[in-house]
Formats: sequence, structure tokens, C-alpha cells
Amino acid sequence: MTDTTVTIRSRPDFTPPPRPTRRERMRTMLDRVRLIRFLALLAVKEHVMPDLHVRPLVAELFLTDNCNLNCVSCNCWRTHTRDELSLAEWRSVIDQLADLGFVKLNFTGGEALIRRDACDVISHARSRGFRDLHLNTNGIVLDESRLAEVLQAGIRSFNVSVDGPTAETHDSVRGRDGAFDVTIDAIRRIVARRDDFGLTVQMNFTVLAGNVSLLPAMADLAAELDVDLYLNLGTDTTFLFRHPEVTANLDVDEAQLRAALAVLEERSRRGDRHLPTVRDLRYIPGHFGFGRLDLVPCVESQLKLMVHSTGGVGGCWGHDPSFNLRERSVRSIVDGPEYREEHARLFRKDCVRCGSNYSLNLRARPAGLAEALSRRLR
Ligand SMILES: C[S@@+](CC[C@H](N)C(=O)[O-])C[C@H]1O[C@@H](n2cnc3c(N)ncnc32)[C@H](O)[C@@H]1O
Ligand code: SF4
Ligand code: SF4
Repeated sequence: MTDTTVTIRSRPDFTPPPRPTRRERMRTMLDRVRLIRFLALLAVKEHVMPDLHVRPLVAELFLTDNCNLNCVSCNCWRTHTRDELSLAEWRSVIDQLADLGFVKLNFTGGEALIRRDACDVISHARSRGFRDLHLNTNGIVLDESRLAEVLQAGIRSFNVSVDGPTAETHDSVRGRDGAFDVTIDAIRRIVARRDDFGLTVQMNFTVLAGNVSLLPAMADLAAELDVDLYLNLGTDTTFLFRHPEVTANLDVDEAQLRAALAVLEERSRRGDRHLPTVRDLRYIPGHFGFGRLDLVPCVESQLKLMVHSTGGVGGCWGHDPSFNLRERSVRSIVDGPEYREEHARLFRKDCVRCGSNYSLNLRARPAGLAEALSRRLR
């Protein structure tokens, strides 16, 4: 007998969110106040009291270290990580972060969306009052129905990684044929919902030896998709990226880098708002060892708390976790003397200098802030 069962798929629900309630608007305002207070305390820490303890406000949650791509620049996919935090454990982490007054959660990995319960974790954060929920993704499983789930769960900001302007170049970095088309479709899908959901969409390109000359074409792609282009600076010093194959891909050619950056700088100066600021672009050669490295304090390491997929906490992008929240509470970790000592050291860049979120570090300086603001006003 033949099976005549028909599976009826429900249509993805893209109902735009209702207008924020008074309580939600108050929460957004309170989060802004917390952020301003954080920056003010950091200024005191930099200029007056180097040992001042300023608690982090944003958590980077590595829902999994495993992945569905095989990027030459990354180490995540090369081993299979087991015993990752369960849904109940992630809910408990989020409860603790809410109680500590964290203002934003970034969901990342590995590829966070390969966890089927990723949206359950995200919607728990929403139910605990978090308004600012961000996702880093390669976009591979972000089809129409998964995007609807992710938006209903509460994500309002996306970084989607694209490492080349064509299928040939992107797929060769990402280690999978067809990845480019799937990821670009995902970006178009997110952009189509941008106005309804008030989304922020950024395309992240990792600068490597093999793709640096393609930066001008990436700028064209960003303009065509109407998304901001962010340049990750290829590194092999952070826990995600330590591998000889990664190191081999970081031998960026100085002439190629400078020529590509000159094109972007010219376009950024002329007002292309999809591109990084001139100040961001000028920071990049120093990271790759060409010319002086701008040693601004690392605000990123102060703002973020890293929570790894197996419960490790602490350090920053370039430093391994020193504690585990399967053994201690988040509060006891961040208020403990070891974390505080490490936190102070990382602020003054006594570290492996990974280059993560250099853009935030530059924007926290008066000149960087002025450039970013004047661009918004243009
Ligand atoms: C580790 S991934 C996790 C999120 C997701 N799987 C993705 O690819 O977007 C986070 C970001 O790191 C970037 N990245 C990969 N290899 C890197 C490297 N060696 N140095 C700096 N950033 C890198 C990725 O392109 C991505 O934008
Ligand atoms: S960069 Fe992202 S997509 Fe690529 S292997 Fe690493 S975690 Fe996976
Ligand atoms: S630049 Fe240094 S302190 Fe900042 S995140 Fe990287 S390793 Fe940590």
C-alpha cells in the first residue's frame, strides 16, 4: 500500500513585532544609561584608577563550537566538541546575566543555528527582558522558516560572513561549493525584513592573504545588497582560530593590502556609508605588521564576557577561559580577584593583540567617536 500522507508545512510567520510597551521603552532607556555609565567608568579607569572594576555589559554566547562549514581561516570545524551546555544550562546563564544587568547578548559559535534549540535559548533571553539580541551566522541554514523563527525569538541584529565577492572566492575560503549563493540569499531575505523588524545587518569579511585584493569588489557587493561591510582582521591568536592552516592564510601582501585599502578609503571619504570609516581602514595595516600599530586600550575586552559552549568563562577573544560556570556562578567569577586582575591587564593591551572589534576600540576615543557621528549626520 502506498503512503498517501501529505506533510502540510505551516507558512513562516513574519508578523512584525508590536510597538514597544512603556515598560520595554523604559528598559531600552535604562540599558543606554548603563552603557553611558560603563564608558564614563572606563575613562576613570584609563586616566585615574587603573584597578577600578568595571563589570562587562555584553555577553558573547558560544552556543556551540561545532560548525557546518570548513573555513580555511577557522579551527571550529576541525574537532567535534561534546558536552556543550544544555538548554536548561543556557537558560540559567541568561538568568544570571539578566540579574547582573547585562544589556546585550551576542549569539555565536561555531555556527549557533546548527543547534535546533538555538531559538529556545534566544526567546528565553527575550522573556528575561533583553531587547538587544544579536546573531553571528554563516547564513547556511537561514532559510525562510528559520529566519521567521529567529526573528520571532527576538534577534534584531545580524552579522553574516561573506569572504569573497563571487561564488568561486567565497566558497574556496568557506570550504563548501554552493555556500556563496545560499548565504547571499539569506542576506537578501534578512534585508527584505529589515524595515518591518527594525533590523541591523552587517556583512563580515575576514581579511586573508587570498582575498585581500578583492576588497573593492566586496565594497560593490555591500552597496548592491545595501548592507554595511565590516572587515574582520585575520588572526591566529584567538581560541577559535589557532591552527597552522589559519597561520598559512595570514601572509597578507603589503602592496595588495595598501592598494585595496586606498580604494576603500577614497570611497569612504566620498561618503559611501556601507564602508568602514577612514580611521578604521587606517588601523588595518598595523594589525598585519605593516607600520605602527595603534595601541588604543581594549574596550572590547572590558565590555564583553565570553561564555564558551562548555561553560568556560573569562578572558577575551585572545585569551582562553579561566573559569567554568558549571562550578561557579557568573557573579562570583566576574567579581573575583583573578578575573578582575586579568580584566585590568587586558584593558591596557597586555595581551596577544588579536584585533577583535578594533572598530569599537577606535570609536571609544574622542576622534573616532567624532568621525563616526559626523558620518551619521551626513
Ligand atoms: C567564528 S565565526 C562564528 C559565526 C559564524 N559561524 C560565521 O562564520 O559567521 C565569527 C566571525 O569570525 C570570522 N573569522 C573566521 N576566521 C577568522 C580569523 N582567522 N580571524 C578573524 N576572524 C575570523 C568569521 O568570518 C566570522 O565573521
Ligand atoms: S568561521 Fe564560522 S562558518 Fe567558518 S568554520 Fe568558523 S565557525 Fe564555521
Ligand atoms: S586585543 Fe587583546 S585584550 Fe583585546 S580582545 Fe584581543 S587579545 Fe583581548
